[in-house]
Amino acid sequence: MHRTDSLRQGSDTMEILLSADELASGIGRLSDQVKGDVGRRPLMVVGVLTGSIVLVADLIRRLEGPVSVSMVWASSYRGTATSPGKLEMRLDLLPDLTGQDVLLVDDIFDTGHTLKALLEELRRRGAASVRSLVLLRKTGRAEVDIQPDFVGFDIPDKFVVGYGLDFDGGLRHLPHLAALDDDDIAAARAGQTRCSEQPASRS
Ligand code: IMP
Ligand code: MG
Repeated sequence: MHRTDSLRQGSDTMEILLSADELASGIGRLSDQVKGDVGRRPLMVVGVLTGSIVLVADLIRRLEGPVSVSMVWASSYRGTATSPGKLEMRLDLLPDLTGQDVLLVDDIFDTGHTLKALLEELRRRGAASVRSLVLLRKTGRAEVDIQPDFVGFDIPDKFVVGYGLDFDGGLRHLPHLAALDDDDIAAARAGQTRCSEQPASRS
């Protein structure tokens, strides 16, 4: 099988950083923290398309009290790039946020530019409060002066896929979180034939 195809399906040589069970425990911790924070007040969850879809689906089912959900779109990655480019945002699906308690939910805090820009936009729209939650935070990458209010897991500075996160549009469907190594990325870019079949060690 071509390495690119194998990569698109989730190769068994990818390093698994977080199993589906570990992710589920993390969502449990995050939802407890959110419940402790908002109690039973109405909460507007705003997910960031597309990477947060799995997280939003799992998180909202663990919340109590009135919850509404809306989505915005943001992207700073293009094709097979693994470092951010120009940030694009679309907020036209948002309802009126005036007076609402908002929880912005994204998959990962990397440089932090996406979260910072979106928080500023949501605050401009008159929300009573805006907090932020991310599943993952990459170590040593932040370029902004803010941090998310709730963080599921701190992870090493690796390009990760699965549980909503993609590489070149694929691999969002993996139930676990995996890291792509340089060979995976180079091969995906070049569309080369896969030759290594060594299983990766679990970290
Ligand atoms: P930031 O603006 O640099 O914090 O980037 C945040 C966005 O980049 C996230 O919403 C993700 O969509 C994407 N991103 C950052 N790191 C990764 C990664 O390792 N895998 C997949 N997407 C990522
Ligand atoms: Mg994103």
